[in-house]
Amino acid sequence: MINKKNHDPLDVVFDRAISGNIILKNPNILNSDYIPEKLPFRDKQIIAIGQTLAPLLKGSRCSNLLLYGKTGTGKTVVSHYVINRLTEKSSCTNNKIRLAYTNTRVSGTGYRVLSDLASSVDLDIPFTGLAIGEVLKRIINIISKNEYFVVFILDEIDYLVKTYGDNILYEITRSINSLHPGFISIIGISNDLQFKEYLDPRVLSSLGEEEIVFPPYTAEEIKSILEQRAIMAFKENSFSLGAINLCAALAGSEHGDARRAVDLLRVSAEISDREGATKLDEKHVRIALQKMERDRIYDALNSLPLQAKVLLLSILYSNNNCSTGQVYEKYELICKKTGIEILTQRRISGLLSELDLLGLISTNVISTGRYGRTKKIKSLISIELVKEVFTKDTVLCSIIH
Ligand SMILES: Nc1ncnc2c1ncn2[C@@H]1O[C@H](COP(=O)(O)OP(=O)(O)OP(=O)(O)O)[C@@H](O)[C@H]1O
Ligand SMILES: [Mg+2]
Repeated sequence: MINKKNHDPLDVVFDRAISGNIILKNPNILNSDYIPEKLPFRDKQIIAIGQTLAPLLKGSRCSNLLLYGKTGTGKTVVSHYVINRLTEKSSCTNNKIRLAYTNTRVSGTGYRVLSDLASSVDLDIPFTGLAIGEVLKRIINIISKNEYFVVFILDEIDYLVKTYGDNILYEITRSINSLHPGFISIIGISNDLQFKEYLDPRVLSSLGEEEIVFPPYTAEEIKSILEQRAIMAFKENSFSLGAINLCAALAGSEHGDARRAVDLLRVSAEISDREGATKLDEKHVRIALQKMERDRIYDALNSLPLQAKVLLLSILYSNNNCSTGQVYEKYELICKKTGIEILTQRRISGLLSELDLLGLISTNVISTGRYGRTKKIKSLISIELVKEVFTKDTVLCSIIH
């Protein structure tokens, strides 16, 4: 009799899940929020943050600090690492230290940022409803009453400022100045080097008492970070060095971004595991890169505003390498068909640049002899993918063919 189980693909999938990951001994290590025990190439920054925070251990206020550096340069992981070490140390010396962490992109509003600060001092703040000033007053009162020393980490602080302005930071820094006994020190983290320009000079002088820069990693450093991570995450002999080197080269070397490299390694491992392979090799990395690129484009397409979607469709429905004029004609046609407002050529020019920046199209200005110059536009993505995403749009679904 044929054993049905061996021939049932779903059984194979389930059995594999029960028996665990084939190549990984510890999949969590490849998550981007995992904090490794060692953070090579960041000694200088670790020591500098440590030196800034150290006065806390003796009950003195520490300076506010700004951490800068491009995306994936280790700002978040290094600050968590130092804070964890400080917490360990303070548990035996000073129990008045409180640590508050908020990622302003995740928390979303100034109010939520403050409620993260409140929960670090065990203060319950209603979900909404109080004025910002009142929330701050309650936080300040409790810190003062208990003489707490608070370190408040505001990760991706540029998001808060660019979305809501610097009012909330102004209120916080003002309250901090008059806080006694107890204090709050702020560590702001930003990957936008121009972020300081958004700040009122009073806020800037208060926040930027000290600054630490995180330079991009070199290609060699990314390779070494990835190798260390792989040794911890993979079972013995279940990855090839070639695969790690390729991950580092494809993801990290251009921008010095360790996150992209770790993400690529994780997705490669997932693909290898799904395939049932016993060793991660370069083939999996190449498939993973394609998948990540496809996911990135999918997200970018999904979050385009309606007018940009219409414009992209106009490009895809025109000949490849068409001129701005041809695209505009198509665009007008689609707008009329769907009853969408027709934007001016000037506005469309702006939208074209945005699509170009997102890597969805490429534009090329060419000289056309005595008639001057014209812009040629080429789509960089497949029409099938665009159709797949845009058919979900209630306005556009009727014109997709
Ligand atoms: N020196 C390092 N050693 C080991 N892993 C590192 C190191 N630096 C960064 N990483 C890893 O790279 C990834 C990205 O790091 P991190 O999140 O700290 O970047 P970031 O500078 O905060 O970027 P962003 O500005 O986009 O938030 C994480 O998975 C982190 O563990
Ligand atoms: Mg970060």
